[in-house]
Amino acid sequence: MLAPEVIRKKRDGATLTREEIAFLVGGITDGGLSDAQVGALAMAFFLKGLDAEERLNLTTAMRDSGSVMQWDLDRPVLDKHSTGGVGDKVSLMLAPILAACGAAVPMISGRGLGHTGGTLDKLDSIPGYVSTPATEVIRRVVLQTGCAIVGQTSDLAPADRRLYATRDATGTVESIPLIVASILSKKLAEGLDALVLDVKTGSGAFMASQEDARALATALTEVANGAGVNTVALITDMNEVLGTTAGNALEVREAVDYLTGAARETRLHEVTASLASAVLVQARLASDEDAARAQVDEVLESGAAAEVFGSMVAALGGPADFVENPTLPSASVTRPVAPQRPGYVTSVDTRAVGLVVTGLGGNRRREDDQIDYGVGLSRIAPIGAEVGPDRPLAIVHARGDSSAAEAATALLKAVRTSDEPPAERPVLLGRV
Ligand code: URA
Repeated sequence: MLAPEVIRKKRDGATLTREEIAFLVGGITDGGLSDAQVGALAMAFFLKGLDAEERLNLTTAMRDSGSVMQWDLDRPVLDKHSTGGVGDKVSLMLAPILAACGAAVPMISGRGLGHTGGTLDKLDSIPGYVSTPATEVIRRVVLQTGCAIVGQTSDLAPADRRLYATRDATGTVESIPLIVASILSKKLAEGLDALVLDVKTGSGAFMASQEDARALATALTEVANGAGVNTVALITDMNEVLGTTAGNALEVREAVDYLTGAARETRLHEVTASLASAVLVQARLASDEDAARAQVDEVLESGAAAEVFGSMVAALGGPADFVENPTLPSASVTRPVAPQRPGYVTSVDTRAVGLVVTGLGGNRRREDDQIDYGVGLSRIAPIGAEVGPDRPLAIVHARGDSSAAEAATALLKAVRTSDEPPAERPVLLGRV
């Protein structure tokens, strides 16, 4: 087969066969395709799209471009993927909850992207935690503790690494078929039995409109189910920060408090318990949603989920007593941000709040940036909360007074208040 001919075929809008897609993915992986050819192909895919069969073929070829984990266990292998948001620390609680409910969870996670935080960056705030171990270590920790929240290894879906870097450099990121193949090639390489997707929509999500979120959720579930992994997607609200914190160490602390029961913010709990229940039912670890919810409540109340989290942290190099004594980096300056006039929070530009955390040093501006793990926001007032001179919007955690002042100004701009309380809004918006 000749690469320029296959690229021309897609350029002209024809449908590629499974063999042609496998040939192209092989060339992306082993260098048989030049950078120019990968770029041209990404643009052809972007402009002409891929039909349902092509999407499935592209995803499975990219999954098979590296090693695919094999488990052969007496319990199902499960995972979750979120399309990303601000304050989204759900993975930190969900993996140990599912493990405590009887699943194995090899959760391959990513770093922060744009204004959103990344699960790996949050975990890197735990002293000693090795977030990118070798595949054998991931396997050992999953077998020993039930879960491992870790980064992508070099042998997992290598075609995606090259294609994603090319897309980033060629203006071809925002394509549903390419996003689907990219996300799912990595998830399917974990050797999963079932998967739950958290597709976020709203001012802090990459898919701001519900219509786009639903289209992405549908495309993702079609391909994942087509590849033989029982998959369900929930569409959840990202019109405000999830939970009460945003910033790496602060979010880890919130996750520990959630697991131990010290504090459990309502919307965060709703998203976490709903995702957990959905995938427990998909994996037949629970007969229905009510039974699944009861299991989730049980492992939280008994402390079993907190115990799994502590064991996983210790097995990956963190402190043995992390849950009992969560020592984490902290910022030297803390400062409440309060509006001058009393009122109710009615809306939030959540992307701007994510960028406040970036401005404080809590997310990367460039890929080689060092993250400041201790900075961020805590006690974030949710939509509907009463705020005013004595009721802050949030507490800023900063390295210095000037960055704290900048963050305060930006946060005040990002939040709208009114004399009237807003209507209640659900956090779960749909299911695909
Ligand atoms: N995350 C991924 O892994 N790939 C994409 O294309 C977009 C988000």
